[in-house]
Amino acid sequence: MSDIRPIGVFDSGLGGLTVVHELREALPEEQLIYLGDTLRCPYGGRSIEAIKTFSREITTFLMKQNVKMIVVACNTVSAVALDDVMEIAGDIPVLGVVGPGSRAAIHTSVDRRVGVIGTKATVRAGAYGNGIRALDDRVTVYEKACPLLVPLVEEGFIDSKVTELVLEEYLDELIDLGVDTLVLGCTHYPLLAKPIHRVLGGRIEVIDSAWWTARETKQILTDRNELAVTREGHDRFYATDMTDEFNRQASIFLRGQMDAIIEIDLHNELNEIQ
Ligand code: DGL
Repeated sequence: MSDIRPIGVFDSGLGGLTVVHELREALPEEQLIYLGDTLRCPYGGRSIEAIKTFSREITTFLMKQNVKMIVVACNTVSAVALDDVMEIAGDIPVLGVVGPGSRAAIHTSVDRRVGVIGTKATVRAGAYGNGIRALDDRVTVYEKACPLLVPLVEEGFIDSKVTELVLEEYLDELIDLGVDTLVLGCTHYPLLAKPIHRVLGGRIEVIDSAWWTARETKQILTDRNELAVTREGHDRFYATDMTDEFNRQASIFLRGQMDAIIEIDLHNELNEIQ
């Protein structure tokens, strides 16, 4: 049987399209509904209360789209508001990127020394550290906030000297601490994979949470017998604010052709639901 209900995916902005890219590769038959909260992005420096409120609103909107699963593409939301998303989703499975990234780190690290890079909110919440230690308390986790990386990616400084210098500044400390595995704990960082590998000098395994999240999404839908066998309908992309700049950024994150992004007023949508 084919379950043609869409998968809901959301992020603070357009960075979560890196997760959409991986979901499309792993699950080409699935229809995706994506919401990027571009109006209120970035979440990384915001309070826990604000992130929880925004996440609850977006989940309510996605539930109204009759989704069969919610993938929280945003590391910051996964770190601080996953419970809120789960509460609203009820019986619908919810997967945040922190869980798959943590599980992958455990399987990869030989020396049991893991580094995690993310936004300030993700690191402050310690979600990766807690997640990894809950699976294996012999693992030492070093978490490092890298707030300059999101604006660098959004400005298109991907393979540039300035980015490499900033990466050295952030990563040298983790290299000196002897980590053998580094988790990319932010939607934007997979785009920096090349300069990150260069700075790490081939000595450290790099975990892309987005890739692992796509694999676990497939596993969850397979276990629940809810996979789509044939594709029905196009993916839908919503954003809470739009500029021409966003269209350019979206195709960078998606690493391919972007269908039209539909701008929505989330509060109007939620008023209609009530
Ligand atoms: N999407 C966020 C994350 O993965 C990065 C951008 C932001 O700070 O909102 O943590």
